[in-house]
Amino acid sequence: AAVVEHTFVVSQVKMTHLCNETLVTVVNGQFPGPAIEVTEGDSVTVHVVNESPYNLTIHWHGVKQRLNCWADGVPMITQCPILPNQNFTYRFNVAGQEGTLWWHAHVSFLRASVHGALIIRPRRGASSYPFPKPYKEIPIIIGEWWQMDLARADWAIAHSVDVYFGASTINGKLGDLYNCSGALEDGYMLDVEPGKTYLLRIVNAALFAEYYLKIAGHKFTVVAADANYVSPYTTDVIAIAPGETVDALVVADAAPGRYYMVALPNQSPEPDPQSPVLITRGILQYRNVQEALGDSSSSEMAVAPEMPDDQDLLTSFYFHRNLTSLHHPQRPLVPTRVDEHLFITLSLGSICRRGQSCKRGGSDETFTVATMNNVSFQQPAVATPLLELHYYNTNSMDMLQDLPDKPPMVFNYTDQALIPPGPKEAKLEPTSKATVARRFRQGSVVEVVFQGTALLQSESNPMHLHGHDVFVLAQGEGLYDAARDTAWYNLVNPPIRNTVHVPRLGWVAIRFVADNPGIWYMHCHFEFHMTMGMVGLFIVEDGPTVDTSLPAPPADFPSCGHI
Ligand code: C2O
Repeated sequence: AAVVEHTFVVSQVKMTHLCNETLVTVVNGQFPGPAIEVTEGDSVTVHVVNESPYNLTIHWHGVKQRLNCWADGVPMITQCPILPNQNFTYRFNVAGQEGTLWWHAHVSFLRASVHGALIIRPRRGASSYPFPKPYKEIPIIIGEWWQMDLARADWAIAHSVDVYFGASTINGKLGDLYNCSGALEDGYMLDVEPGKTYLLRIVNAALFAEYYLKIAGHKFTVVAADANYVSPYTTDVIAIAPGETVDALVVADAAPGRYYMVALPNQSPEPDPQSPVLITRGILQYRNVQEALGDSSSSEMAVAPEMPDDQDLLTSFYFHRNLTSLHHPQRPLVPTRVDEHLFITLSLGSICRRGQSCKRGGSDETFTVATMNNVSFQQPAVATPLLELHYYNTNSMDMLQDLPDKPPMVFNYTDQALIPPGPKEAKLEPTSKATVARRFRQGSVVEVVFQGTALLQSESNPMHLHGHDVFVLAQGEGLYDAARDTAWYNLVNPPIRNTVHVPRLGWVAIRFVADNPGIWYMHCHFEFHMTMGMVGLFIVEDGPTVDTSLPAPPADFPSCGHI
């Protein structure tokens, strides 16, 4: 196995889109950032040079970081952030995982521009893929172009100032639907040769939306999701939520021509009239057409796909439900014994501003937070990251509170009709903030049911667990009912993921083995929800031996400076 080395210089550069020059924070001057390409079993070394004015960390999304929680990149949970003008080198390996993952800044909002693909190929080469060897592999990163300094977006949202979300992007390109991009050639262009097979490695790096992806005249065969192989699933539309990755084969078997590749954000049934649907499109173009037309061609010549409705959430529900894991020798088996059962409702709540007695409903007295079991995550007020406190076994970990097992109120979470009318604030339960965590004995088999609620008027919730993959046993609409729903758990070939799609007004049941010692962030990958507190910590205790215990932190681990 090799050592793959990269240097990521994070800095602010000016980029012009939508007629405006904007200062954006990016890696090596690129948006999206560079792809890391490795072979399974390789070691990865990334020197991060922080020339930006922000504190930052990089998270290797989906990398299991076995016995290496130190490299997981969550500020003040696993490490001190890398301060401006400082450097830190991440070291990790990618054993036992194949497919597409990605990396991103784990600082809210900055990840919209600080991200890239992480591609892991099998050791025995592309011919050992469990599907026909592709002619070419193409990363497709769906993202967003923000017309503002992202580090200020956080602040702006907290102060109810408008944020300027400009457009969706494919591989950093806005496409021809926007003023000041305009030309077809300004969109992402994928040149294909007739008859060849392409492996698209698709990442949703967007902060705020699940996307539908289609290519006119072509079908996808989905072969992997979150770097786990799935049984080949042929579809003309891919649904991909923030944090998810999908690998799909596309055969260039249509009549030579130009075909639009469209990414459409899907929205809730009551879209906010203030936030337009920010569709983006690129082009899949047959090579001979390009040669014949030169660059005198116009956009009228591309064929557009028929997209699902932008408020259609069922297509996503079925897309996710139709995935099963591929049978192959390395596939782990679903544990049948369960040690810990968790039921976690995902919702919104209201918090009374300090020093005021909140009478019901005054939106000036309260602010809205996102919750798990009616607690909103409080970033710990510590001078040392929690993982170090945990490792050195100090009692300052006492500040952690148990993630409640059950939500405090019983009501019909998913029936919108039962939610009282009136201003949104009036419907929210009073809630509290705490640094919530749940401890697991190493090796415990944990089952979690995530229950969505009608208070979430947004998209589905993509719940991401660091440091582990999970089996997705079942999903359903409405309220979870253990007596009814455990009966149809898929214990044979459930998909294995790091980001779990909780359908809007529905639930999902997962199981995983808590076998990786450390402190693991578990959160909604929809950025508003994460920023607003839909976060918990899973702490996996050390086992009895060295190879089941968290080793010492790296020698060059950053310190928190003046934080
Ligand atoms: Cu991709 Cu904690 O996130």
